Amino acid sequence: MASLRELGLRDSPGEVILSTLNPDSSPHAAAVGVRARGEEEVEMLLFHPSVSLSNLRREGEGVLNVTDDVSLLVRVGLRNLLPPPRLEFLPSALLRTPRLGGMRGYAYLRVREVEEREVEDELGTSTASRVLCRAVGVEVVSPGVKPFLRSEFFLLEAAVKASRILVARERGMKVRRMVEELRRLVEECLRLAPSSGEAETARELLEAVERRVGMW
Ligand SMILES: Cc1cc2nc3c(=O)[nH]c(=O)nc-3n(C[C@H](O)[C@H](O)[C@H](O)COP(=O)(O)O)c2cc1C
Repeated sequence: MASLRELGLRDSPGEVILSTLNPDSSPHAAAVGVRARGEEEVEMLLFHPSVSLSNLRREGEGVLNVTDDVSLLVRVGLRNLLPPPRLEFLPSALLRTPRLGGMRGYAYLRVREVEEREVEDELGTSTASRVLCRAVGVEVVSPGVKPFLRSEFFLLEAAVKASRILVARERGMKVRRMVEELRRLVEECLRLAPSSGEAETARELLEAVERRVGMW
């Protein structure tokens, strides 16, 4: 079996499509962030209420579908806002839960543990369940596959902001607000993936910009 790392999963969340089985055996798909926990386990945090969570609890299994199509991921994640995409469900060799066609890789999961917890964030207090699963199979369709990592997007946006700050500075413009925006992008990158390479680069980038513009 290929490894979760080969599927591009790490200890910071990667955004994938989770397929599960509804009570009538029809398939369900949702966008979720998932982290690798060691070599064989993955963890996700599902906010209540969630069809995926009920399905995982009842069936004890699900499939992670790794896509490189960001529009598809967003449309699956925002079905109540955008027209739903057409999804092709295909049988999985290892589980009853089907996988999605056209994906770059798959992880076939059996649920190990579901633990309810309260989550505090900008929305206040929410109830969520941390779902720990064991990967009973991993399939890499495209070598080099990896899920979308929000931390990478924040670093990329931070880099673009930093380069614009340097130009603005050269032109003698005020950069305080742009540096504030840069700080927010960097903080979000650090929050999402604190021990990642992106976080290290983002931290270094912010310090370098602050030094250059003479704010510190
Ligand atoms: C990119 C993306 C990532 C998401 N990640 C999560 C997640 O990690 N946990 C979660 O509960 N909902 C997440 N959502 C929202 C769900 O996909 C979904 O819209 C909602 O939670 C309902 O889930 P359900 O279909 O299981 O009922 C995400 C949405 C998007 C667009």
